[in-house]
Amino acid sequence: MSAQMNPVLIIGGSGVVGSRAARALRRLQPALPITIGARDLARANALAKEIGGANAARIDLERQDLGLPADAAFSAVVVFLKDTSLNSMKYAQAKGIPYVAFSDFVFDIGPAVAHYIQKPGSAPILMLGHFLGGTVTLATLHFAREFQRLHSIEISAVFDEEDVGGPAAKGDMEHVAQSVPHPLMLKDGKFLWARGEEATRVFRGVDGTEWKGQAYPLLDVVSLAAATDAKTVRLDFAVRPTASRRPGQGLSHEVIIELVGERKDGTTGRVRHALTDDDVHSGMSARGAALAVERLLGLAGGPPVAPGLYHPEGLLDPVYVVERLKEFGTRVQRV
Ligand SMILES: NC(=O)c1ccc[n+]([C@@H]2O[C@H](COP(=O)([O-])OP(=O)(O)OC[C@H]3O[C@@H](n4cnc5c(N)ncnc54)[C@H](OP(=O)(O)O)[C@@H]3O)[C@@H](O)[C@H]2O)c1
Repeated sequence: MSAQMNPVLIIGGSGVVGSRAARALRRLQPALPITIGARDLARANALAKEIGGANAARIDLERQDLGLPADAAFSAVVVFLKDTSLNSMKYAQAKGIPYVAFSDFVFDIGPAVAHYIQKPGSAPILMLGHFLGGTVTLATLHFAREFQRLHSIEISAVFDEEDVGGPAAKGDMEHVAQSVPHPLMLKDGKFLWARGEEATRVFRGVDGTEWKGQAYPLLDVVSLAAATDAKTVRLDFAVRPTASRRPGQGLSHEVIIELVGERKDGTTGRVRHALTDDDVHSGMSARGAALAVERLLGLAGGPPVAPGLYHPEGLLDPVYVVERLKEFGTRVQRV
């Protein structure tokens, strides 16, 4: 079925995360046609050749038609860079095909939401600026199933200092650092933009190391606040200095998900789960995006998704996502 589909247009598909998403999608869907969109056609073509069943297209985000021929036809548009013009979203809405936005922090989804509100019936729009492509929110919802009521969700992550992504990702980080100093969190049932010490938290990593994390304005906070009854939801990152890496140890990252809540037997308890992965963090992010594309197109988990505005937890089954992550090599353990 996927072989007869129009190609999925992956804009930014030759970048650090986009190329991993293209490879992950190819692994999940060997016959699905893919178009790698970027400015540098040589780099995009090289990736298209590597993954097979793919071609490359030069993208001009300044233009409403993205610089593509009038008769170009795609099955979905997935964008791995911050498209401040939103021409890529308008293009998907005009064609009535699914759109995935991957680079929006919690404070900058307003323009995309307004475009959705303007044309709500035009296309399925997935806001996937979540941590690691939505995989952490989905894993959290999976682990939450042992509770009948959640009190708090505290997510922490440790990244290697060098694991900063490509130029587009670095630009996004600078944008956060310069223009949005206060991260959003839910605390005691109220949303707040945290300041000073409130925006930091000490947590223990997988091996017991203590880290001081800094809260981050990602969409996971609003997704998990809406999907659970937790009164506290936050997400903090710490950076592992290169000098502290053990000899021979490559890049890796770890995510700790700590849940406090009322178990099904009525007792209150705290559990800690860890996700560890040996690729750069863009690896898990890309897998989250590939799983979402597969779902949107109706190639896994149900029929093609109807027009609407979505977060990953509204589309994907948490159990399915955790199983696929394990197959891709992520270690999932209770710690
Ligand atoms: N939600 C998540 O989990 C998550 C995780 C990681 C990263 N991200 C986000 O994903 C994005 C990509 O990060 P990255 O590390 O992959 O960056 P990257 O390596 O710099 O990749 C950027 C890609 O976009 C293309 N591109 C850049 N400007 C373009 C333009 N004006 N028109 C068309 N194509 C353009 C680049 O190719 P050319 O240079 O050839 O155009 C390249 O393919 C960033 O916005 C980052 O914040 C999100």
